[in-house]
Amino acid sequence: MARTDNDSWDLASSVGATATAVAASRAVASQGPDALLDDPYAEPLVRAVGLDEFVRVVNGESFKADDPVMTRRAMSEQIAVRTRFFDDFFSVASEAGIRQAVILAAGLDTRAYRLSWPANTDVYEVDQPEVIAFKTATLDELGAAPKAQRKTVAIDLRDDWPSALRAAGFDSAQPTAWIAEGLLPYLPPDAQDRLFDHVTALSAAGSRLATEHMDTTNLPADWADRISDRWRRAGSDINLSDLFYAGERNEARNYLSSHGWQVAVYSTKALYDGHGFALPDDELVRIMGDSGYLTATLQGA
Ligand SMILES: C[S@@+](CC[C@H](N)C(=O)[O-])C[C@H]1O[C@@H](n2cnc3c(N)ncnc32)[C@H](O)[C@@H]1O
Repeated sequence: MARTDNDSWDLASSVGATATAVAASRAVASQGPDALLDDPYAEPLVRAVGLDEFVRVVNGESFKADDPVMTRRAMSEQIAVRTRFFDDFFSVASEAGIRQAVILAAGLDTRAYRLSWPANTDVYEVDQPEVIAFKTATLDELGAAPKAQRKTVAIDLRDDWPSALRAAGFDSAQPTAWIAEGLLPYLPPDAQDRLFDHVTALSAAGSRLATEHMDTTNLPADWADRISDRWRRAGSDINLSDLFYAGERNEARNYLSSHGWQVAVYSTKALYDGHGFALPDDELVRIMGDSGYLTATLQGA
């Protein structure tokens, strides 16, 4: 079903199911003797959501299509690159003395439970109410204990989330490490700009941000449909082109640079190389060009 301005979801429906999809990849990458990740909560969270297509994946079944990007190894490498990028971002920010972290669109992210946070670090998780409630309850049932002061903010990121974040204890006078992982295409273009405006307004000098970078240089107009087709061929029920806002938008890199942030971009290719992985030889990988990830630091006044 296409998106609407006030749509909402749980982890088994609409945009919420994409959080379960990503957690399934983390679960697969955390399995076996050659595991590339160590996220012990990903698999039980996916099982608890219970979406058949992802339960089968964590049970060891492969996706249907003979597709170089959807093999278990390719999925594991892709998610390992992504997960390690954001893990490293938090670890560098912690080493630099930052003690306040915000995970925007947290989904089934378990960093509050699995990273080694310095004492007195507050980790805020923002996502839709049903997503936050389900994850919190499931991790409680699993006996998982956060390794930081985890604070949840159950709200839509198109609403007044800054007020909700402050009400949860967020201190805008302290530098913050923010991540928005796997979020931007699910926000309408103006909501993405507003998100960055809010992040900027809430950030003390020296705050940092990490998110994806999309290189739009050679992106065909039907990029979302092509990704969606691929998922469908592989046997997934998720229709990404219904969930993405695929039209033109400001590139995060440029928008942040023009709002006081110093931005560094890391291409997926460079990150794969850094981990000793080879990017799959694939048309969609090629059209994503120099897409990858970025980090940004807010300059002083
Ligand atoms: C692809 S998942 C990524 C989840 C998590 N960051 C990760 O990488 O595992 C997208 C997430 O964005 C959240 N999201 C998208 N739009 C949102 C909105 N308007 N308000 C709150 N959360 C939103 C969804 O609920 C979902 O958890």
